[in-house]
Amino acid sequence: MIGLKGLDYLDFEKPKILAFCGKGGVGKTTCASSTALHFAKKGLKTLLISSDPAPSLSDILEVNVRGNITPINYCENLNAIELDYDLVVKRWKEKFGYEVYEVLSSFLPVGEEIIEYIAGAPGIDEEFALSYVLDIYESSNYDTIVWDTAPAGGTLSLIKLQDKFYKHLGEAAKLYVKVRKALEMLTKGRARRDPLNIIASWEKLAERVLNMLRDRRTHAIIVTIPEALGVHQTERVFKELEAFGMYISKILVNYVITEDICVCDFHRQRANMQKYYLNILKNRYEKKPGLAILPQLPREVRGIKAINKVEELLF
Ligand SMILES: Nc1ncnc2c1ncn2[C@@H]1O[C@H](COP(=O)(O)OP(=O)(O)OP(=O)(O)O)[C@@H](O)[C@H]1O
Ligand SMILES: [Mg+2]
Repeated sequence: MIGLKGLDYLDFEKPKILAFCGKGGVGKTTCASSTALHFAKKGLKTLLISSDPAPSLSDILEVNVRGNITPINYCENLNAIELDYDLVVKRWKEKFGYEVYEVLSSFLPVGEEIIEYIAGAPGIDEEFALSYVLDIYESSNYDTIVWDTAPAGGTLSLIKLQDKFYKHLGEAAKLYVKVRKALEMLTKGRARRDPLNIIASWEKLAERVLNMLRDRRTHAIIVTIPEALGVHQTERVFKELEAFGMYISKILVNYVITEDICVCDFHRQRANMQKYYLNILKNRYEKKPGLAILPQLPREVRGIKAINKVEELLF
């Protein structure tokens, strides 16, 4: 059996962003909340962000944090927000919508309704969630950002999208240079911002997001469970994050039934099954990036007392 290890190494590494990733229901929000509480208790100004479109942060904290950065009154230094996706789309339109219109309308016969259309395209909300995290990261308002990400599929596509977006912008600028002469003749006389400048500003933004995600002080922690599904998902998420260049600082195995809590045959059977998958995880990840274990608790984790309990177990 693997010895119990936690996340206490984080106290020394002092991450700026700590992203909890993994498949649905494995305990990302629970672990993110407990970790944020830990940093806040140490006196670090901490923001807990959930970018999950179906968030449960308010439920777990037992405080409504939907759409606004909200101080958590039971812990000084702790603030939390669940991104509200209706608001996200609205803010996206305010921040980028008109620019998109300006660029597109410079070479296509489109009106402002194109903004509505693009705001509803897949990936726009995720793109905005990243730029939201970036704004907070670049401001010096918080010492630590604990990021409860959307379940595996979502966050991975979000990161890959960023990579693609970045490459495509380079292409867009080249294409634009090629057709520029013709465009200038078509749009002669109309005062406009140079779309090339707008594209260049998007490119800068995408580069800043990539730098943030690839920063050594940005940690990804993959949360998983000791079952076949968990092992497979971990392999996939691990490979993708690693290929992307993100620093993965730990694999956190949740819902582990430890021998000391096995009192009946049912739990002994489950512990036996888990042992098999824990060994696989151990062989693959114990050396790098290392494993941490969170035992299964008798109750769901809700409210400050339960979050505190998980914090004690993790640190
Ligand atoms: N170690 C544990 N022992 C007992 N219950 C736990 C444990 N970890 C998490 N839970 C409970 O499991 C449920 C799911 O946890 P949580 O919401 O943190 O998962 P998630 O990965 O964030 O899910 P989603 O992908 O839906 O966002 C919650 O009810 C939580 O209280
Ligand atoms: Mg969650």
